[in-house]
Formats: sequence, structure tokens, C-alpha cells
Amino acid sequence: MATETGTRTDTTNGTTNGTATDTRYLFETGSDHGRVQVDCLSAMLDSTTTGVLDDLGVREGWRCLELGAGNGSVARWMAQRVGPAGSVAAVDIDTRHLDPAPGVTAYRHDINDGLPQDGPFDVIHARMLLVHLPRREQILRTLAGALAPGGWLVVTDISDRLPTAAAGTDPGPAELFDRVLDAGMNGLGRAAGMDLEWARDVGRHLRDAGLEDIHGLEDAFTARGGTPALLYYRSLIKQLEQPLQAAGLTADEVRRFGDLMLDPQFSAWSYQFVTTWGRRPR
Ligand SMILES: C[S@@+](CC[C@H](N)C(=O)[O-])C[C@H]1O[C@@H](n2cnc3c(N)ncnc32)[C@H](O)[C@@H]1O
Repeated sequence: MATETGTRTDTTNGTTNGTATDTRYLFETGSDHGRVQVDCLSAMLDSTTTGVLDDLGVREGWRCLELGAGNGSVARWMAQRVGPAGSVAAVDIDTRHLDPAPGVTAYRHDINDGLPQDGPFDVIHARMLLVHLPRREQILRTLAGALAPGGWLVVTDISDRLPTAAAGTDPGPAELFDRVLDAGMNGLGRAAGMDLEWARDVGRHLRDAGLEDIHGLEDAFTARGGTPALLYYRSLIKQLEQPLQAAGLTADEVRRFGDLMLDPQFSAWSYQFVTTWGRRPR
């Protein structure tokens, strides 16, 4: 039950990086770079996300579940929308940046262990979470089963279309950008259990889980160094410096990539973010 001031519950017994049965989540959300990571996601995606939730009719009294809640920006939007008659459970394995907020109950919880709160929910939202989790298909079925009749499940993840430097970029920076992104995503990401083909397949999984009215949208855009899309890449690479070097990049290349992401003369594509949603039949 959401409260006026918000509450926090811990079900992880102190672990923050997944259970022994799962490949490790690559990033440390509670670190300074992890904070930049989730703040950049909010800056890039909250308008799309809240636009979809608005279109789906999130309103007063709805029971909401926000998974992999990051800095809690979507949970706070939900809480304002559903008011005191509704509820918002915000779940993250690392809640150091998920401050209690009015109407939001924060759970420090590993979603591999099931849901921390019984449903049913009128809307469940998971952004940039399932792509990381090897048991994503099973978790999606659990989420579909936790929906109230008529309730919506909304999933956003990145696709396998790797970002490139914007057209007209000098060959040196463009090549460095491609190589670091490839090493991070196709190398470290896939090795850690990320499924970059998943995002385009979510609709099928929603259908197989019995949902209907399935639709989607994609977001990708160019951005300059120093703005959220490129600061996002920088925050990822800063968290992966050691494994990237172990994978063959030099310390100088990793440093130059970080500097490039701050350079307003440099422009590159964002990830391609795919949002898919479906509804449990009434
Ligand atoms: C890439 S961030 C996305 C944050 C937020 N959804 C957004 O889009 O702004 C992934 C989030 O999922 C959380 N997370 C990772 N593995 C998790 C798990 N097994 N259970 C719950 N949360 C998890 C991370 O701590 C992080 O906050």
C-alpha cells in the first residue's frame, strides 16, 4: 500500500547484483556513474514513456508496478497521476537513487525472485531491464499473470541496431565510436546475458502470454557530445573500463571515447529504443 511519504522495503539480504543463478547485471546503479546512467535515461525517454502511459489511460486509483525503477522518475509520475486512491510499487535491485516519494513504495528487490508485492496491477512498466535478464521470458509471463483484467504491460528495451557516429564525422572518431560500442554491446553485453534481439520480439512474447491490443513504437535520434544520449554512453563505458581493457581496448582509447562523449562538435545516434505494450483481456 502506498503511503503519504513513501516507504522502502528490502528483500535482497544485501545482494545487489543478481542471484547466484543469473548472469551478473553489468552496471552498479548506486555508483556516481550509475546515477548519471539512470538520469540520462530519464532525460532521453521519460517524455516517450509518460506519453505512452498517458495514452493507455493511467489515471486516479490505478495500481502501478514500476520495475528496474532507476532514479524513480517514472514511479513519481505514476504516483502523481494515480493519486492517493492508487498505488505505485517501485522495484529495483539497487535503490540507492530511488528515494522514497509521496505515494511510492520502494522495494529493494531482485525481480528474478518474483514480485515483491501481490497484484493485480492496472499497469506494469519495465524500461531497459528485461534485456539484461537471462530469465526475461519467464519474468514477462509472471508480469502478464500479475495484470488485472484490462491491465497493461509496457516494455522498453534497446534493439540490436548499434548506434553509429552521425554522417560526416571524421573517420578517426567514427571508428573509435563504432569499436567501443561493438566491444561494449556485442562483446561484454552479450557475454553478460543481454539479448539484443529481444526488443523486437517482445510483441510475440506478450501475445504468447495471452495479451491483446499489442502495439509498439521506436525512438532513435542524433545527439551532440555533452547531452544525455552521449553522456549515457560515457557513464556506461566509465563503469566498464576494466572489462573493456581486458577485451582488447587500450586505456587511451577508453579515455578518448569518454572525452569524445563530452565534445559538442561530435554527434552520434542514440540507441534504438523499442517500446511494446499489450493488455490482458477483460
Ligand atoms: C538500465 S537501468 C534502467 C533504469 C530505469 N528503468 C530507466 O529506464 O530509467 C536498469 C535498472 O534495473 C535495475 N535492475 C537490474 N537488475 C535487476 C533485477 N534483477 N531486479 C530488479 N532491478 C534490477 C538496475 O539497478 C537499474 O536501476
